[in-house]
Amino acid sequence: MAGLLLAGALAGAAEAQTACSRFTPSKSSAYNGMTVALPWRTDLPSAPGTATHAWEAIPLTSWEAYMAAVLSEIRASGLKLQGNRVVMNANAEWWITPWMDYGDSGREKRLGLTKERDAQLHDLSPTSAQGAQVWAVGFYNREGAAALGRVFADPCNPVFPTGAAAFPQNTASFKLLFTNASATQVRYLQGGPQVTAFIGPSVPARVARSMRLLQMDIAVKDARSPTGWVFGTYIWKGPPTGDRLLDNLVPVGLMWGNDPAASAAQRDDFATLGETRLNPALAGVVWRGPGQIWPERPWPGFQGRLNGPADNLRSSCLSCHALAQWPRSIALGIVPRDAWPSLMSQTARDDLRAKYLKNVPAGALTNPVEANPNLPAWAGATSLDYSMQLEAAFDRMCRACKAGALTGATPAMCKIAGLRSNTTLVETPNCPAAASPVARTAASAARTAPDPPPRQ
Ligand code: HEC
Repeated sequence: MAGLLLAGALAGAAEAQTACSRFTPSKSSAYNGMTVALPWRTDLPSAPGTATHAWEAIPLTSWEAYMAAVLSEIRASGLKLQGNRVVMNANAEWWITPWMDYGDSGREKRLGLTKERDAQLHDLSPTSAQGAQVWAVGFYNREGAAALGRVFADPCNPVFPTGAAAFPQNTASFKLLFTNASATQVRYLQGGPQVTAFIGPSVPARVARSMRLLQMDIAVKDARSPTGWVFGTYIWKGPPTGDRLLDNLVPVGLMWGNDPAASAAQRDDFATLGETRLNPALAGVVWRGPGQIWPERPWPGFQGRLNGPADNLRSSCLSCHALAQWPRSIALGIVPRDAWPSLMSQTARDDLRAKYLKNVPAGALTNPVEANPNLPAWAGATSLDYSMQLEAAFDRMCRACKAGALTGATPAMCKIAGLRSNTTLVETPNCPAAASPVARTAASAARTAPDPPPRQ
Protein backbone atom coordinates (compact mmCIF):
# COMPACT_ATOMS: atom_id res chain seq x y z
CA MET A 1 0.00 0.00 0.00
CA ALA A 2 1.40 3.30 -0.97
CA GLY A 3 2.23 5.22 2.12
CA LEU A 4 0.62 2.60 4.27
CA LEU A 5 1.71 2.57 7.87
CA LEU A 6 0.81 -0.74 9.32
CA ALA A 7 1.30 0.18 12.94
CA GLY A 8 -1.13 -1.75 15.04
CA ALA A 9 -3.21 -2.88 12.08
CA LEU A 10 -1.74 -6.32 11.85
CA ALA A 11 -0.21 -7.58 15.02
CA GLY A 12 2.57 -9.99 14.21
CA ALA A 13 2.70 -9.31 10.49
CA ALA A 14 5.99 -8.45 8.91
CA GLU A 15 6.83 -4.85 8.17
CA ALA A 16 5.08 -3.63 5.05
CA GLN A 17 7.46 -3.75 2.14
CA THR A 18 5.09 -2.04 -0.22
CA ALA A 19 5.02 1.48 1.18
CA CYS A 20 6.65 4.03 -1.08
CA SER A 21 8.36 6.48 1.22
CA ARG A 22 8.05 9.23 -1.38
CA PHE A 23 4.25 9.22 -1.22
CA THR A 24 2.90 11.22 1.71
CA PRO A 25 0.16 9.39 3.67
CA SER A 26 -2.04 12.50 3.70
CA LYS A 27 -2.30 12.24 -0.11
CA SER A 28 -3.77 8.74 0.15
CA SER A 29 -7.52 8.31 -0.46
CA ALA A 30 -7.46 5.99 2.58
CA TYR A 31 -5.90 8.60 4.90
CA ASN A 32 -7.83 8.69 8.16
CA GLY A 33 -6.56 12.02 9.47
CA MET A 34 -3.52 10.47 11.13
CA THR A 35 -2.26 7.61 9.04
CA VAL A 36 -3.28 4.96 6.52
CA ALA A 37 -4.11 1.75 8.36
CA LEU A 38 -6.26 -0.73 6.49
CA PRO A 39 -7.11 -4.05 8.12
CA TRP A 40 -5.49 -6.17 5.39
CA ARG A 41 -2.09 -7.73 4.79
CA THR A 42 0.43 -5.81 2.70
CA ASP A 43 3.59 -7.71 3.69
CA LEU A 44 3.92 -9.34 0.28
CA PRO A 45 5.66 -12.73 0.53
CA SER A 46 8.96 -13.35 -1.23
CA ALA A 47 8.08 -16.85 -2.50
CA PRO A 48 4.90 -18.48 -3.81
CA GLY A 49 5.20 -21.50 -1.51
CA THR A 50 4.50 -25.11 -2.42
CA ALA A 51 0.88 -25.51 -1.39
CA THR A 52 -1.47 -27.76 -3.30
CA HIS A 53 -5.06 -26.74 -3.74
CA ALA A 54 -8.22 -28.82 -3.86
CA TRP A 55 -9.34 -27.26 -7.17
CA GLU A 56 -6.36 -28.79 -9.01
CA ALA A 57 -8.02 -32.21 -8.84
CA ILE A 58 -11.43 -30.98 -10.03
CA PRO A 59 -12.32 -30.82 -13.74
CA LEU A 60 -13.34 -27.34 -14.89
CA THR A 61 -16.62 -28.78 -16.11
CA SER A 62 -17.45 -29.76 -12.51
CA TRP A 63 -17.68 -26.04 -12.12
CA GLU A 64 -19.69 -25.86 -8.91
CA ALA A 65 -17.26 -28.15 -7.10
CA TYR A 66 -14.35 -26.13 -8.51
CA MET A 67 -15.83 -22.91 -7.16
CA ALA A 68 -16.58 -24.53 -3.81
CA ALA A 69 -12.92 -25.54 -3.53
CA VAL A 70 -11.87 -21.91 -4.02
CA LEU A 71 -14.53 -20.70 -1.60
CA SER A 72 -13.27 -23.07 1.08
CA GLU A 73 -9.83 -21.40 0.94
CA ILE A 74 -11.53 -18.02 1.25
CA ARG A 75 -13.49 -19.26 4.26
CA ALA A 76 -10.26 -20.51 5.83
CA SER A 77 -9.14 -16.87 6.06
CA GLY A 78 -11.75 -16.30 8.76
CA LEU A 79 -13.41 -13.67 6.57
CA LYS A 80 -16.55 -12.53 8.34
CA LEU A 81 -18.80 -9.65 9.17
CA GLN A 82 -18.01 -8.00 12.50
CA GLY A 83 -20.18 -5.03 13.34
CA ASN A 84 -20.34 -3.02 10.16
CA ARG A 85 -16.94 -4.22 8.99
CA VAL A 86 -15.46 -7.16 7.21
CA VAL A 87 -12.51 -8.75 8.97
CA MET A 88 -10.06 -11.56 8.31
CA ASN A 89 -7.63 -13.44 10.55
CA ALA A 90 -4.40 -11.44 10.89
CA ASN A 91 -2.28 -14.31 9.57
CA ALA A 92 -4.63 -15.24 6.71
CA GLU A 93 -2.84 -15.99 3.46
CA TRP A 94 -4.49 -13.22 1.44
CA TRP A 95 -2.92 -9.86 0.51
CA ILE A 96 -4.06 -6.60 -1.07
CA THR A 97 -2.42 -4.88 -4.02
CA PRO A 98 -0.26 -1.81 -3.37
CA TRP A 99 -0.84 1.62 -4.85
CA MET A 100 -4.62 1.50 -5.15
CA ASP A 101 -5.21 4.27 -2.60
CA TYR A 102 -5.02 7.40 -4.69
CA GLY A 103 -7.60 9.52 -6.49
CA ASP A 104 -11.37 9.57 -6.82
CA SER A 105 -11.68 5.81 -7.30
CA GLY A 106 -8.95 5.02 -4.78
CA ARG A 107 -9.33 2.88 -1.66
CA GLU A 108 -11.54 4.32 1.07
CA LYS A 109 -10.23 4.42 4.60
CA ARG A 110 -12.38 1.85 6.38
CA LEU A 111 -12.29 -1.32 4.29
CA GLY A 112 -9.96 -0.32 1.48
CA LEU A 113 -12.77 -0.43 -1.07
CA THR A 114 -12.12 1.02 -4.53
CA LYS A 115 -14.80 2.51 -6.73
CA GLU A 116 -16.16 0.46 -9.58
CA ARG A 117 -18.55 1.25 -12.40
CA ASP A 118 -21.89 2.67 -11.17
CA ALA A 119 -24.84 0.41 -11.86
CA GLN A 120 -26.82 1.33 -14.96
CA LEU A 121 -30.60 1.39 -15.11
CA HIS A 122 -31.97 -2.15 -14.50
CA ASP A 123 -28.50 -3.71 -14.34
CA LEU A 124 -28.89 -5.34 -10.95
CA SER A 125 -32.54 -6.31 -11.23
CA PRO A 126 -35.53 -5.49 -13.46
CA THR A 127 -36.36 -2.55 -11.16
CA SER A 128 -32.93 -1.27 -10.05
CA ALA A 129 -32.32 2.46 -10.46
CA GLN A 130 -29.59 4.20 -12.41
CA GLY A 131 -26.44 5.16 -10.55
CA ALA A 132 -26.19 2.94 -7.47
CA GLN A 133 -22.55 2.87 -6.42
CA VAL A 134 -20.45 -0.28 -6.41
CA TRP A 135 -17.21 -0.48 -4.41
CA ALA A 136 -14.96 -3.50 -3.96
CA VAL A 137 -11.90 -4.96 -2.28
CA GLY A 138 -9.83 -7.73 -3.84
CA PHE A 139 -7.14 -10.05 -2.49
CA TYR A 140 -4.46 -12.37 -3.89
CA ASN A 141 -3.32 -15.63 -2.30
CA ARG A 142 0.35 -16.41 -1.59
CA GLU A 143 1.17 -17.36 -5.19
CA GLY A 144 -0.35 -14.12 -6.50
CA ALA A 145 1.03 -11.96 -3.74
CA ALA A 146 4.56 -13.30 -4.37
CA ALA A 147 4.19 -12.13 -7.99
CA LEU A 148 3.07 -8.72 -6.72
CA GLY A 149 6.07 -8.73 -4.40
CA ARG A 150 8.40 -9.07 -7.39
CA VAL A 151 6.62 -6.30 -9.30
CA PHE A 152 6.79 -3.96 -6.30
CA ALA A 153 10.25 -5.02 -5.06
CA ASP A 154 10.94 -1.29 -5.26
CA PRO A 155 7.57 0.09 -4.14
CA CYS A 156 8.31 3.47 -5.71
CA ASN A 157 9.30 1.96 -9.06
CA PRO A 158 7.40 -1.21 -10.01
CA VAL A 159 8.73 -3.39 -12.82
CA PHE A 160 6.65 -5.81 -14.82
CA PRO A 161 8.20 -8.69 -16.84
CA THR A 162 7.67 -8.03 -20.56
CA GLY A 163 6.08 -10.71 -22.73
CA ALA A 164 5.66 -13.15 -19.89
CA ALA A 165 2.88 -14.44 -17.71
CA ALA A 166 3.80 -13.03 -14.33
CA PHE A 167 1.46 -14.96 -12.10
CA PRO A 168 2.36 -18.57 -11.21
CA GLN A 169 0.02 -21.55 -11.38
CA ASN A 170 -2.59 -21.59 -8.64
CA THR A 171 -2.57 -17.86 -8.16
CA ALA A 172 -6.05 -17.15 -6.81
CA SER A 173 -7.80 -13.89 -6.25
CA PHE A 174 -11.17 -12.98 -4.86
CA LYS A 175 -13.03 -9.74 -4.70
CA LEU A 176 -16.02 -8.64 -2.61
CA LEU A 177 -18.31 -6.12 -4.31
CA PHE A 178 -20.64 -3.96 -2.24
CA THR A 179 -23.45 -1.67 -3.37
CA ASN A 180 -25.68 0.99 -1.86
CA ALA A 181 -28.52 -0.02 -4.23
CA SER A 182 -31.93 -0.23 -2.61
CA ALA A 183 -32.84 -3.73 -1.41
CA THR A 184 -36.44 -2.88 -2.23
CA GLN A 185 -35.39 -2.69 -5.85
CA VAL A 186 -32.83 -5.48 -5.72
CA ARG A 187 -34.79 -7.98 -3.71
CA TYR A 188 -32.20 -10.75 -3.56
CA LEU A 189 -30.13 -8.40 -1.36
CA GLN A 190 -32.76 -8.25 1.38
CA GLY A 191 -31.39 -9.32 4.74
CA GLY A 192 -27.85 -9.26 3.40
CA PRO A 193 -24.64 -8.39 5.24
CA GLN A 194 -24.11 -4.64 5.57
CA VAL A 195 -20.91 -2.68 6.01
CA THR A 196 -20.20 1.00 6.50
CA ALA A 197 -17.78 2.51 4.01
CA PHE A 198 -16.60 6.00 3.12
CA ILE A 199 -17.90 6.41 -0.37
CA GLY A 200 -19.09 9.44 -2.21
CA PRO A 201 -18.53 11.76 -5.01
CA SER A 202 -14.93 12.77 -4.47
CA VAL A 203 -11.88 12.75 -2.25
CA PRO A 204 -11.85 14.06 0.48
CA ALA A 205 -15.62 14.72 0.49
CA ARG A 206 -16.47 11.08 1.13
CA VAL A 207 -19.22 10.20 3.57
CA ALA A 208 -19.98 7.08 5.62
CA ARG A 209 -22.70 5.02 3.99
CA SER A 210 -24.16 1.62 4.44
CA MET A 211 -23.52 -0.90 1.68
CA ARG A 212 -24.57 -4.49 1.12
CA LEU A 213 -22.58 -7.38 -0.28
CA LEU A 214 -23.71 -7.86 -3.89
CA GLN A 215 -21.23 -10.14 -5.61
CA MET A 216 -18.03 -12.08 -4.98
CA ASP A 217 -15.65 -12.67 -7.90
CA ILE A 218 -12.92 -15.30 -8.05
CA ALA A 219 -10.05 -15.86 -10.48
CA VAL A 220 -7.57 -18.77 -10.59
CA LYS A 221 -4.48 -19.34 -12.74
CA ASP A 222 -5.04 -22.83 -14.12
CA ALA A 223 -3.09 -24.34 -17.04
CA ARG A 224 -6.09 -26.40 -18.10
CA SER A 225 -7.78 -23.23 -19.37
CA PRO A 226 -7.02 -22.05 -22.94
CA THR A 227 -6.54 -18.56 -21.51
CA GLY A 228 -4.52 -19.78 -18.51
CA TRP A 229 -7.20 -18.36 -16.22
CA VAL A 230 -10.56 -19.42 -14.79
CA PHE A 231 -13.02 -16.76 -13.63
CA GLY A 232 -16.18 -17.28 -11.57
CA THR A 233 -18.67 -15.25 -9.63
CA TYR A 234 -21.26 -15.51 -6.87
CA ILE A 235 -24.13 -13.28 -5.81
CA TRP A 236 -25.34 -12.83 -2.27
CA LYS A 237 -28.94 -13.99 -2.35
CA GLY A 238 -31.45 -13.93 0.47
CA PRO A 239 -33.36 -14.89 2.46
CA PRO A 240 -30.47 -15.17 4.91
CA THR A 241 -29.60 -18.62 6.14
CA GLY A 242 -26.80 -17.67 8.51
CA ASP A 243 -25.12 -14.60 9.84
CA ARG A 244 -21.78 -15.07 8.19
CA LEU A 245 -20.73 -13.03 5.23
CA LEU A 246 -20.30 -16.01 2.93
CA ASP A 247 -23.26 -18.15 3.94
CA ASN A 248 -25.68 -17.00 1.26
CA LEU A 249 -23.38 -16.91 -1.74
CA VAL A 250 -24.97 -18.57 -4.78
CA PRO A 251 -22.71 -19.41 -7.74
CA VAL A 252 -23.62 -17.52 -10.92
CA GLY A 253 -21.17 -19.35 -13.15
CA LEU A 254 -17.61 -20.16 -14.15
CA MET A 255 -15.75 -19.45 -17.41
CA TRP A 256 -12.39 -20.53 -18.75
CA GLY A 257 -12.70 -19.20 -22.30
CA ASN A 258 -14.69 -16.75 -24.39
CA ASP A 259 -15.98 -19.30 -26.92
CA PRO A 260 -14.59 -17.12 -29.73
CA ALA A 261 -16.55 -18.94 -32.44
CA ALA A 262 -19.94 -18.98 -30.75
CA SER A 263 -22.56 -16.50 -31.91
CA ALA A 264 -26.30 -16.24 -31.60
CA ALA A 265 -28.26 -15.42 -34.73
CA GLN A 266 -31.26 -13.83 -33.06
CA ARG A 267 -31.11 -10.59 -31.17
CA ASP A 268 -30.92 -11.30 -27.40
CA ASP A 269 -30.38 -15.05 -27.81
CA PHE A 270 -27.77 -16.97 -25.86
CA ALA A 271 -24.95 -18.43 -27.95
CA THR A 272 -24.20 -22.11 -27.37
CA LEU A 273 -21.15 -21.97 -25.13
CA GLY A 274 -18.69 -24.67 -24.10
CA GLU A 275 -16.38 -22.52 -21.96
CA THR A 276 -18.96 -20.78 -19.75
CA ARG A 277 -21.21 -22.57 -17.28
CA LEU A 278 -24.15 -20.68 -15.78
CA ASN A 279 -26.44 -21.54 -12.90
CA PRO A 280 -29.89 -21.96 -14.48
CA ALA A 281 -31.56 -21.17 -11.15
CA LEU A 282 -30.48 -17.53 -11.53
CA ALA A 283 -32.43 -16.92 -14.75
CA GLY A 284 -34.94 -14.29 -13.69
CA VAL A 285 -32.61 -13.05 -10.92
CA VAL A 286 -29.32 -12.05 -12.58
CA TRP A 287 -30.54 -12.14 -16.18
CA ARG A 288 -33.92 -12.29 -17.89
CA GLY A 289 -35.96 -15.40 -17.25
CA PRO A 290 -38.57 -16.93 -19.54
CA GLY A 291 -41.52 -14.61 -20.07
CA GLN A 292 -39.96 -11.86 -17.98
CA ILE A 293 -39.80 -8.22 -19.09
CA TRP A 294 -36.19 -7.14 -18.60
CA PRO A 295 -34.81 -5.71 -21.82
CA GLU A 296 -31.57 -4.49 -20.23
CA ARG A 297 -30.30 -7.94 -19.20
CA PRO A 298 -31.02 -10.59 -21.81
CA TRP A 299 -27.90 -12.35 -20.55
CA PRO A 300 -25.26 -11.83 -17.79
CA GLY A 301 -22.35 -11.17 -20.19
CA PHE A 302 -22.25 -10.99 -23.98
CA GLN A 303 -24.61 -13.59 -25.45
CA GLY A 304 -24.50 -15.68 -22.29
CA ARG A 305 -20.82 -15.48 -21.40
CA LEU A 306 -20.15 -14.99 -17.72
CA ASN A 307 -20.51 -11.65 -15.97
CA GLY A 308 -22.09 -10.66 -12.68
CA PRO A 309 -24.87 -8.16 -11.96
CA ALA A 310 -22.28 -5.39 -11.39
CA ASP A 311 -20.81 -5.91 -14.85
CA ASN A 312 -21.28 -4.56 -18.34
CA LEU A 313 -23.21 -6.99 -20.52
CA ARG A 314 -21.17 -6.02 -23.58
CA SER A 315 -18.22 -7.93 -22.14
CA SER A 316 -17.29 -10.97 -20.07
CA CYS A 317 -15.00 -11.50 -17.11
CA LEU A 318 -12.23 -12.87 -19.34
CA SER A 319 -12.60 -10.42 -22.24
CA CYS A 320 -12.19 -7.44 -19.95
CA HIS A 321 -9.36 -8.93 -17.89
CA ALA A 322 -7.47 -10.00 -21.03
CA LEU A 323 -7.18 -6.26 -21.69
CA ALA A 324 -5.16 -5.72 -18.52
CA GLN A 325 -2.08 -4.23 -20.18
CA TRP A 326 0.21 -1.23 -19.88
CA PRO A 327 -0.54 1.18 -21.47
CA ARG A 328 -4.26 0.50 -21.88
CA SER A 329 -5.31 -0.54 -25.40
CA ILE A 330 -5.97 2.44 -27.65
CA ALA A 331 -8.06 0.41 -30.07
CA LEU A 332 -10.14 -1.47 -27.53
CA GLY A 333 -10.08 0.26 -24.13
CA ILE A 334 -11.34 -2.43 -21.76
CA VAL A 335 -14.93 -2.72 -22.92
CA PRO A 336 -16.72 -2.37 -26.27
CA ARG A 337 -18.09 1.10 -26.75
CA ASP A 338 -20.87 -0.15 -29.00
CA ALA A 339 -24.51 0.71 -28.75
CA TRP A 340 -26.91 -1.30 -26.69
CA PRO A 341 -26.18 -4.91 -27.70
CA SER A 342 -29.73 -5.73 -28.65
CA LEU A 343 -29.69 -2.78 -31.06
CA MET A 344 -26.50 -3.92 -32.74
CA SER A 345 -26.61 -5.40 -36.20
CA GLN A 346 -25.37 -8.92 -36.79
CA THR A 347 -22.26 -7.45 -38.42
CA ALA A 348 -21.55 -5.27 -35.40
CA ARG A 349 -22.01 -8.21 -33.05
CA ASP A 350 -19.61 -10.33 -35.13
CA ASP A 351 -17.13 -7.49 -35.12
CA LEU A 352 -17.32 -7.21 -31.32
CA ARG A 353 -16.79 -10.97 -31.03
CA ALA A 354 -13.78 -10.93 -33.35
CA LYS A 355 -12.11 -8.06 -31.50
CA TYR A 356 -12.94 -8.74 -27.86
CA LEU A 357 -14.05 -12.34 -27.39
CA LYS A 358 -10.76 -14.04 -28.14
CA ASN A 359 -9.03 -16.64 -26.04
CA VAL A 360 -5.95 -14.62 -25.20
CA PRO A 361 -3.19 -16.72 -23.60
CA ALA A 362 -1.86 -15.36 -20.31
CA GLY A 363 0.95 -12.90 -21.03
CA ALA A 364 -0.27 -12.06 -24.57
CA LEU A 365 -2.18 -9.00 -25.82
CA THR A 366 -5.75 -9.05 -27.13
CA ASN A 367 -4.61 -6.79 -29.97
CA PRO A 368 -1.06 -8.12 -30.60
CA VAL A 369 -0.09 -5.24 -32.89
CA GLU A 370 0.03 -3.03 -29.80
CA ALA A 371 3.23 -4.79 -28.70
CA ASN A 372 5.00 -2.93 -31.51
CA PRO A 373 7.12 -0.14 -29.96
CA ASN A 374 7.42 1.71 -33.27
CA LEU A 375 3.89 2.95 -33.73
CA PRO A 376 3.44 6.74 -33.69
CA ALA A 377 3.32 8.09 -30.11
CA TRP A 378 3.45 4.57 -28.75
CA ALA A 379 6.24 2.67 -26.99
CA GLY A 380 4.61 -0.75 -27.09
CA ALA A 381 2.24 -2.41 -24.64
CA THR A 382 2.93 -5.16 -22.12
CA SER A 383 0.33 -7.66 -20.98
CA LEU A 384 -0.35 -7.58 -17.24
CA ASP A 385 -1.42 -11.23 -17.23
CA TYR A 386 -5.12 -10.57 -16.57
CA SER A 387 -4.46 -8.44 -13.47
CA MET A 388 -6.67 -5.37 -13.64
CA GLN A 389 -5.55 -4.38 -10.17
CA LEU A 390 -2.02 -3.94 -11.49
CA GLU A 391 -3.33 -1.70 -14.23
CA ALA A 392 -5.29 0.34 -11.68
CA ALA A 393 -2.24 0.50 -9.40
CA PHE A 394 0.12 1.75 -12.13
CA ASP A 395 -2.48 4.24 -13.32
CA ARG A 396 -2.88 5.69 -9.84
CA MET A 397 0.83 5.80 -9.17
CA CYS A 398 1.44 7.75 -12.38
CA ARG A 399 -1.44 10.13 -11.65
CA ALA A 400 0.10 10.73 -8.23
CA CYS A 401 3.49 11.46 -9.82
CA LYS A 402 2.03 13.76 -12.45
CA ALA A 403 0.07 15.75 -9.85
CA GLY A 404 3.04 16.07 -7.52
CA ALA A 405 1.67 13.80 -4.78
CA LEU A 406 4.56 11.41 -5.36
CA THR A 407 7.95 13.09 -5.16
CA GLY A 408 11.38 12.23 -6.53
CA ALA A 409 12.31 10.07 -9.51
CA THR A 410 9.55 9.35 -12.02
CA PRO A 411 8.63 5.65 -11.94
CA ALA A 412 9.68 3.97 -15.20
CA MET A 413 6.06 2.87 -15.73
CA CYS A 414 4.99 6.48 -16.10
CA LYS A 415 7.43 7.38 -18.89
CA ILE A 416 6.01 5.07 -21.55
CA ALA A 417 4.70 6.85 -24.65
CA GLY A 418 1.06 5.90 -25.16
CA LEU A 419 -0.14 6.61 -21.64
CA ARG A 420 -3.17 8.83 -21.23
CA SER A 421 -1.02 11.88 -21.49
CA ASN A 422 -2.83 14.62 -19.61
CA THR A 423 -2.96 12.64 -16.39
CA THR A 424 -0.45 9.79 -16.49
CA LEU A 425 2.45 10.31 -18.89
CA VAL A 426 5.40 11.99 -17.17
CA GLU A 427 8.23 13.03 -19.44
CA THR A 428 10.54 14.55 -16.85
CA PRO A 429 13.11 12.51 -14.88
CA ASN A 430 11.42 13.55 -11.63
CA CYS A 431 7.74 13.83 -10.74
CA PRO A 432 6.78 17.50 -11.15
CA ALA A 433 6.70 19.58 -7.96
CA ALA A 434 3.16 19.97 -6.63
CA ALA A 435 3.23 23.73 -7.20
CA SER A 436 4.54 23.49 -10.78
CA PRO A 437 2.32 24.32 -13.77
CA VAL A 438 2.52 20.71 -15.03
CA ALA A 439 1.32 19.29 -11.70
CA ARG A 440 -1.40 21.89 -11.36
CA THR A 441 -2.66 21.24 -14.87
CA ALA A 442 -2.65 17.49 -14.20
CA ALA A 443 -4.50 17.98 -10.91
CA SER A 444 -7.13 20.14 -12.56
CA ALA A 445 -7.44 17.77 -15.54
CA ALA A 446 -8.00 14.99 -13.03
CA ARG A 447 -10.78 17.05 -11.43
CA THR A 448 -12.59 17.74 -14.70
CA ALA A 449 -12.04 14.25 -16.11
CA PRO A 450 -11.89 12.20 -12.94
CA ASP A 451 -10.02 8.97 -12.67
CA PRO A 452 -12.37 6.68 -14.61
CA PRO A 453 -13.81 4.06 -12.28
CA PRO A 454 -11.67 1.25 -13.56
CA ARG A 455 -14.25 -1.45 -14.07
CA GLN A 456 -16.54 -0.06 -16.76
C1 HEC B 1 -15.21 -4.33 -18.00
C2 HEC B 1 -14.13 -4.79 -17.20
C3 HEC B 1 -14.30 -5.88 -16.17
C4 HEC B 1 -15.15 -6.94 -16.18
C5 HEC B 1 -16.24 -7.28 -17.17
C6 HEC B 1 -14.81 -7.72 -15.02
N1 HEC B 1 -13.78 -7.17 -14.34
FE1 HEC B 1 -12.79 -7.94 -12.76
N2 HEC B 1 -11.78 -6.22 -12.53
C7 HEC B 1 -11.83 -5.16 -13.39
C8 HEC B 1 -10.99 -4.10 -12.88
C9 HEC B 1 -10.75 -2.77 -13.56
C10 HEC B 1 -10.44 -4.57 -11.69
C11 HEC B 1 -9.44 -3.84 -10.77
C12 HEC B 1 -10.04 -2.76 -9.98
C13 HEC B 1 -10.45 -3.12 -8.61
O1 HEC B 1 -10.21 -4.22 -8.10
O2 HEC B 1 -11.04 -2.24 -7.99
C14 HEC B 1 -10.93 -5.92 -11.51
C15 HEC B 1 -10.52 -6.76 -10.48
C16 HEC B 1 -10.88 -8.09 -10.39
C17 HEC B 1 -10.29 -9.04 -9.49
C18 HEC B 1 -9.09 -8.77 -8.58
C19 HEC B 1 -7.82 -9.27 -9.23
C20 HEC B 1 -7.50 -8.67 -10.58
O3 HEC B 1 -7.44 -9.41 -11.56
O4 HEC B 1 -7.34 -7.46 -10.69
C21 HEC B 1 -10.93 -10.23 -9.69
C22 HEC B 1 -10.68 -11.55 -8.99
C23 HEC B 1 -11.95 -10.01 -10.70
N3 HEC B 1 -11.87 -8.70 -11.13
C24 HEC B 1 -12.80 -10.97 -11.17
C25 HEC B 1 -13.79 -10.72 -12.13
C26 HEC B 1 -14.84 -11.66 -12.49
C27 HEC B 1 -15.01 -13.02 -11.89
C28 HEC B 1 -15.60 -11.04 -13.44
C29 HEC B 1 -16.85 -11.56 -14.10
C30 HEC B 1 -17.89 -12.03 -13.23
C31 HEC B 1 -15.00 -9.76 -13.72
N4 HEC B 1 -13.90 -9.59 -12.90
C32 HEC B 1 -15.46 -8.88 -14.68
C33 HEC B 1 -12.49 -5.11 -14.58
C34 HEC B 1 -13.45 -6.01 -14.99
